Amino acid sequence: MVTHYSDATPHIGSPRMTVIGTGYLGATHAICMAVLGFEVLGLDVDPAKVEALASGRVPFFEPGLPEKLREALDSGRLRFTTSFDEAAAFGDVHFICVGTPQQPGSHAADLRYVDSAFTELATRITRKVLLVGKSTVPIGTAARLTELVHSVSPIGDELELAWNPEFLREGFAVEDTLHPDRLVFGVSSEWAEAQLRRAFGPILDEGTPLVVADTATAELVKVAANSFLATKISYINAMAEVCEATGADVNLLASALSFDDRIGGRFLKPGLGFGGGCLPKDIRAFRARAEELGVGAAVAFLGEVDAINIRRRTRTVDLARELAGGSLAGVRIAALGAAFKPNSDDVRDAPALDVARMLYLEGAMVTVYDPEANVNAHRVYPDLDFADSLDEAVTDADVVMLLTEWDEFRQADPVELGELVSARRIVDGRHALDATRYREAGWEYRALGRPSVAATMALPQHARDAVA
Ligand code: UDX
Repeated sequence: MVTHYSDATPHIGSPRMTVIGTGYLGATHAICMAVLGFEVLGLDVDPAKVEALASGRVPFFEPGLPEKLREALDSGRLRFTTSFDEAAAFGDVHFICVGTPQQPGSHAADLRYVDSAFTELATRITRKVLLVGKSTVPIGTAARLTELVHSVSPIGDELELAWNPEFLREGFAVEDTLHPDRLVFGVSSEWAEAQLRRAFGPILDEGTPLVVADTATAELVKVAANSFLATKISYINAMAEVCEATGADVNLLASALSFDDRIGGRFLKPGLGFGGGCLPKDIRAFRARAEELGVGAAVAFLGEVDAINIRRRTRTVDLARELAGGSLAGVRIAALGAAFKPNSDDVRDAPALDVARMLYLEGAMVTVYDPEANVNAHRVYPDLDFADSLDEAVTDADVVMLLTEWDEFRQADPVELGELVSARRIVDGRHALDATRYREAGWEYRALGRPSVAATMALPQHARDAVA
């Protein structure tokens, strides 16, 4: 069923919402809540972000979000501010969506922005409202913050706190926010649950599954889900390592596993592994918190998951070196992709960019091209060269590396590309290309976990589609 929300009007008695922190998560949440019919005030301490959003500009790449921002602003239900006084006076339900990055020099999460957001709000709150954390935090944070806000708020213990983890994927942020596969409410009272039920009314009305839990469980759901996904990816990449030692083909293996419904094909795609602003930092912070709780052994395997993931990057560089004849010094390399995944301009912990950096450090002449992430990538690694198009990147390349599986790269014609490069050698870091077509067009094709010569069995389309 497709639900059109554009005619949504605020219901009498609907909670007025604020969204504190308008980064990826917060901006999407604020925009979607306004589209659903609520009055929303977004707050950020960065005036540039507030100005961009208020003038209809999304300060990051996310398909479909600019159109929703326009719709929300046109409705008159969405505004932005830098003032905590204004936010505290306005909201009945406050969603806190600030970042929880990895602490420098440690695996633990840096909670300074979360603490500051809750404190700034709580000190200004003079009537009963609900503070809802959405940021990904270590277990126990909600309990600690509850004590904190009670101690600083003029209404003391009356101020309630809930946790509502967010599962949105970059590239699908609008869809995941408007039509999530589940909602989780971590609450301490029936009143808090009732507030959240009203705040998510239009989504619950669609039949979205809801789990109501205590705050600790709600915090844990998020890190447990991301740990599971990371483990699944590293599992298939560990199998790729075994394949490399035995001449087996990890693509065929993944497809054969995927037909078992208990395993399933999603997040079983082998290659360069996971990156981004969530999975890597979340598994590290989870381990750090589990150690503090005295249950480090229970999630020690996440260290292995991390290590397998990082090894994929060095192994990809190994493949490039092998293809280049043993040394990367002076080798011209086209690095296709910088974002941590397609349909995103996010380069946080991006495997693609990490590989480009390692190639550069070994003396290769690296030209990076990403359809959306060149600007962000250049900011992080200004020493790398950047091209404005796929053709420009591959022209005269000695080795081509597919590092982020954008459609533009998947759909490129191996014959046409072959005419631009100086040598037809390609590393398919994402198992995204049709090896047979490349080999037929005269390319030396290599991918992690696959035999270096043409496999005798071609993978049929239905088997390729099963793993994604
Ligand atoms: C993730 C979770 O999916 C989301 O629920 C959570 O809220 C935030 O973290 P996101 O970081 O947007 O979302 O990316 P995701 O689509 O999960 O991909 C993560 C990484 O895993 C990417 O680098 C991707 O390339 C890689 N990946 C994914 C694989 O290597 N193989 C796969 O089979 C799937």
